[in-house]
Amino acid sequence: MSKRTEDELLAEVLAAYDKIDEGREKDIIKGAIKHIYAFARDIDLSHDEWLVGIDFMTRVGQICSDKRQEFILLSDLLGLSALVELQDRKPVDGETPGSVAGPFHVNGSPYIDIDGDMDLDKVPGGQRAYVSGIVRDLDGTPIAGAELDIWQTAPNALYAVQDGDQSEDNLRGRQITDENGKWGFYTAKPVPYSVPRDGPCGYILDIANRHGMRTAHIHVGIAAKGYKPLVTEVFPHDDPNMHTDTVFGACADLTMEYVENTDPNIDAELVSTYDFVLRKNPNYA
Ligand SMILES: [Fe+2]
Repeated sequence: MSKRTEDELLAEVLAAYDKIDEGREKDIIKGAIKHIYAFARDIDLSHDEWLVGIDFMTRVGQICSDKRQEFILLSDLLGLSALVELQDRKPVDGETPGSVAGPFHVNGSPYIDIDGDMDLDKVPGGQRAYVSGIVRDLDGTPIAGAELDIWQTAPNALYAVQDGDQSEDNLRGRQITDENGKWGFYTAKPVPYSVPRDGPCGYILDIANRHGMRTAHIHVGIAAKGYKPLVTEVFPHDDPNMHTDTVFGACADLTMEYVENTDPNIDAELVSTYDFVLRKNPNYA
């Protein structure tokens, strides 16, 4: 009796999943099998190495909680999240690019008025900033009634969800653009922060001698009727890690220039503006 070949094994496994209904689920599962096989064969994966991998993924799962998502962090650090964002959006000229959402978004942020203050706690060390802009479409028409979902770190480089000393809603909020498509709020200029290194993802950063720093950013999600939803980030122009963002999210098109405020009617040290441009999409009517 001849021994089973690797190709015969792969064919047998793929055939075992043939009864899944035709569609994306079947394509994804069978595609994953083919690529996992190709990966294991390409690197000549040994049994001991496979067990190390199983142990690693187990620890990634075990450290996850309702406030920590190590799988998203792993995807971010490997550049997969950035790739999926690019593939899913296929941005057109003039449209604001998407960027990674990261693991720290919290649902149900409070609504804040236009020009309201999102910096509830005034954590020491920050630079008070007024940030504002317009949400518009590719033709330049302002989009009224767009909903922004915003979240960022405090000047101590921690999100409220990570920091028991901050108010639960510090530096996060939702805002509805006015009839001119305007958004705007007071905040603290975002600061760079390190992704969590105390879990299994920290090991990958350590062995790669990577710094683990996120380029400073404000996360923004935008939903507007008739437009493709956007999840992105905006980055201060002077961040030293602009070109070495540890999750590959930062790019030049998402830069905000922070300048000294000279308007006595604005109660902030710095001001910055950014216009978000959405693409029409009837699927989101
Ligand atoms: Fe973040």
